[in-house]
Amino acid sequence: MLKIGSKNIKTNVMLAPMSGCTDLAFRLVARELGAKFCFFEMVDANSLVYNHPKSLGMLKTIKKDTPIAAQLLGSDPDIMLQAAQKLIKLVDISFLDINSACPVKKVTSKGAGASLLNNPANLCKIIKKLASSLAIPVTIKIRTGYSKTDLKSTLSLVEKCEKAGASAIFVHGRSRSQGYAGEIDYECIRTIKKEAKIPIIGSGNIFSPYMADKMFKQTGCDGILVARGAFGNPWIFKQIQDYLSSAKTPKLSTNTQKLKILKKHLKLIDKYKQVAPPAKIGIMQKVTMWYLKGLPEAARMRYKICSIKTLDELKNAATHFFKKGV
Ligand SMILES: Cc1cc2nc3c(=O)[nH]c(=O)nc-3n(C[C@H](O)[C@H](O)[C@H](O)COP(=O)(O)O)c2cc1C
Repeated sequence: MLKIGSKNIKTNVMLAPMSGCTDLAFRLVARELGAKFCFFEMVDANSLVYNHPKSLGMLKTIKKDTPIAAQLLGSDPDIMLQAAQKLIKLVDISFLDINSACPVKKVTSKGAGASLLNNPANLCKIIKKLASSLAIPVTIKIRTGYSKTDLKSTLSLVEKCEKAGASAIFVHGRSRSQGYAGEIDYECIRTIKKEAKIPIIGSGNIFSPYMADKMFKQTGCDGILVARGAFGNPWIFKQIQDYLSSAKTPKLSTNTQKLKILKKHLKLIDKYKQVAPPAKIGIMQKVTMWYLKGLPEAARMRYKICSIKTLDELKNAATHFFKKGV
């Protein structure tokens, strides 16, 4: 359904890369409920080259966690290549993305993430180096501009990246300074799509099948990334597919279904997440809150959940909340 370089991707609805979120447990739950293509969490190139256990842990996967893509963060073309070569020896990926979208100051101050939008020469150097050395396609993820949406510069950047060898471009329809809030610039994505020769995948505010449909219709994009819309709502993938193929009104998940999948998600974190116990319970608390969102008194539940210290207590509290409230 989507051709990225030499690779046929069997869906045009993908789980986005999300740092600290799209780990193995998250991806397995998403896949069980309809996600047909996922991203690993973003990996820092420097840390991977130096075998940092956290970066290696991010690449944890199992046989059924496929097909999948990876994303690298960095700014030095040589380090990016070393990291890419290491990464593809460790995991089997369909393509490799270069993060040119992360708005975090710690990242942009080092010339990586969204700051690559302001340095097309370096971004193209990275793309050229990777695309000419790797056997898999190289893609980039960008925003619509740095300080604000800047169509002219973005179109020029897209053209340069295509020439440098990028096989597809993921466009988060916000500028770097918007962070994760505010309107999506559908018009900007539409113009990029019209001008580009390679596939354009839209990202931003995909919180329902209707928003997914809107992204496709208003931009003509070739595919979409589902990001925060999948938090505590892995059903969104099937809902989007059903709605796009037959305009079927999505069936909402019941509290019983939510509780069952939440428990499974927690169990998978327990099984696969290789972090110290306090960090692990912190991740479980965060994930539990995603699933409880929308229940009455979610704020009071959050307060209670933050004080819980074990998986069993967390499961009991969630069961209680779903069945009886706070
Ligand atoms: C917690 C979080 C972490 C993210 N991490 C990454 C990342 O590592 N790489 C990336 O390209 N985008 C990252 N994103 C951006 C998403 O992939 C997506 O483009 C963005 O959230 C817009 O989609 P949405 O409005 O549907 O959530 C992250 C977003 C969130 C909320």
